[in-house]
Amino acid sequence: MTDDPPFGFDVRLPGGIPARYDNHIQRRLSALRGQYSDQQAYDAMLALEDTLLYEVYEIRRPPHGGDLSHGVSIVHPGKVGDEYFMTKGHYHAVLDTAEVYYCLRGMGMMVMETPVGDWAVEEMAPGRVVFVPPRWAHRSVNVGRGEDLVMLYVYPADAGHDYGTIESRGFRKLVVERDGKPALIDNPRWAWPDRRSSQQAGGGQG
Ligand code: F6R
Ligand code: ZN
Repeated sequence: MTDDPPFGFDVRLPGGIPARYDNHIQRRLSALRGQYSDQQAYDAMLALEDTLLYEVYEIRRPPHGGDLSHGVSIVHPGKVGDEYFMTKGHYHAVLDTAEVYYCLRGMGMMVMETPVGDWAVEEMAPGRVVFVPPRWAHRSVNVGRGEDLVMLYVYPADAGHDYGTIESRGFRKLVVERDGKPALIDNPRWAWPDRRSSQQAGGGQG
């Protein structure tokens, strides 16, 4: 609990950089090693430049259950092969914590899934809100043509982040460009977490 006074700040468009923030994160291509399906395209792009994929302007709050961390995420436009620029994606370390996103600018997809393999994708466009329920991993994908995807987010300050699960197998669905439009395809690297381990344990029931 803190005794901070209330505050307000502007998020002006088109830039979307909040007038107040505590921390600025920049994530580059090298931070998404292993996440893009076209490894050749990834290596070729990285050899040229460690391109800036997205930025987060954080209004950090102390990790107290009643407090709310918030900020603005900006995913830049582009593709690695035919797969759009995207965030790493994560579960919250405290799995039972939700998040709300409000799209201010651009076109995007929020790709989500649960530890038991349920998945969902919600479109993002200016004025649209996406609710990420407790237990759902989430990744933002910019599917716009040449325009930043700018979103305000809010989540419990004690949620924390678990990146490891997504790093190891990715999301179940990938967002790629097909015939000039975004399309969902299965991620070949993804595997049923529980079934595979039970098969390895000798279950053999298919
Ligand atoms: C916080 C949250 C967003 C993301 C941001 C960057 O819980 O979901 O602020 O942190 O969109 O994505 P990641 O953290 O996956 O690199
Ligand atoms: Zn989150």
